[in-house]
Amino acid sequence: MRILGQEFAGKVETLGDGVTAFAPGDRVYGTTGIGLGAYAEYVCAGGRRAGSVVAPMPAAMSYAEAAAVPYGAMEALRFLRKGGIAAGQRILIIGAGGSFGTYAIQLAKHAGAEVVAVDSAGKLEMLRAIGADQVIDHTKGDFADGAGDFDIVFDVIGRASFGRVVRLLRPRGRYVVANPHTAQFIRGLWASLTGDKKMIFSSGTVRDEHLRAVTELVETGALRPVIDRRYPLEQMAEAHRYADTEQKRGNIVIVVGREESVD
Ligand SMILES: NC(=O)c1ccc[n+]([C@@H]2O[C@H](COP(=O)([O-])OP(=O)(O)OC[C@H]3O[C@@H](n4cnc5c(N)ncnc54)[C@H](OP(=O)(O)O)[C@@H]3O)[C@@H](O)[C@H]2O)c1
Repeated sequence: MRILGQEFAGKVETLGDGVTAFAPGDRVYGTTGIGLGAYAEYVCAGGRRAGSVVAPMPAAMSYAEAAAVPYGAMEALRFLRKGGIAAGQRILIIGAGGSFGTYAIQLAKHAGAEVVAVDSAGKLEMLRAIGADQVIDHTKGDFADGAGDFDIVFDVIGRASFGRVVRLLRPRGRYVVANPHTAQFIRGLWASLTGDKKMIFSSGTVRDEHLRAVTELVETGALRPVIDRRYPLEQMAEAHRYADTEQKRGNIVIVVGREESVD
């Protein structure tokens, strides 16, 4: 049976041959990568599994909090680094209220950028609370009207019109798309080859260094997970139904067994 799920937090039960970085009982978190399998009481992770990363959990976090961090935070970090985020820049984040977006806002603010976040009305207050300087409701007209110009546009969901976004970019601006559709991909490649604005797609994978950087940011207080709801493992179908509505704020956590605070 195929078990889904990519993120986890828990205690090391046993180690593979030659593993010296961890000991049984260590509190760890991470991703299982393309092998999935994280919706479970026992998870096999790390080693040579593609996209699987494991690290010690941030101190003083519960398993539920820690499990909401790895994938969204590492991907947001990876995309913003590819976009060249830096102090003094203006960044527009489209689809800012989900997992990637809520981490991207905090990472961009930490880097010293000015953040404009786009999502639906019910999430705007939360986006301001985690640091967005300006928020825009995408259901009320064209978010591009009056939004100004940007060094980076990070389109988390890949639904924005290519031409409209490119017009929002400053010279040498970066259009970072997490989930490009085919037309965006082709137009982006062409625009990147022929102009000074660059489109950046998802390529590569998360690595240990990304999770180490995320852990450090969580421990210094620069990054925190936004958790909307928690479901027991038995209610996985309901959790997925809720995620499919796109109404979730930040992350949903699946709690396996008893919810523990710190240990
Ligand atoms: N998080 C993960 O673990 C994970 C894993 C694998 C792949 N992904 C993919 O990565 C992408 C990002 O994931 P996520 O968890 O951050 O996303 P998410 O929770 O689906 O968030 C996307 C956000 O975009 C908003 N939105 C929808 N249409 C919009 C529009 N036209 N303009 C602006 N905002 C709009 C949604 O809100 P409203 O619907 O209320 O407008 C929602 O808040 C998704 O495509 C997802 O499928 C995520």
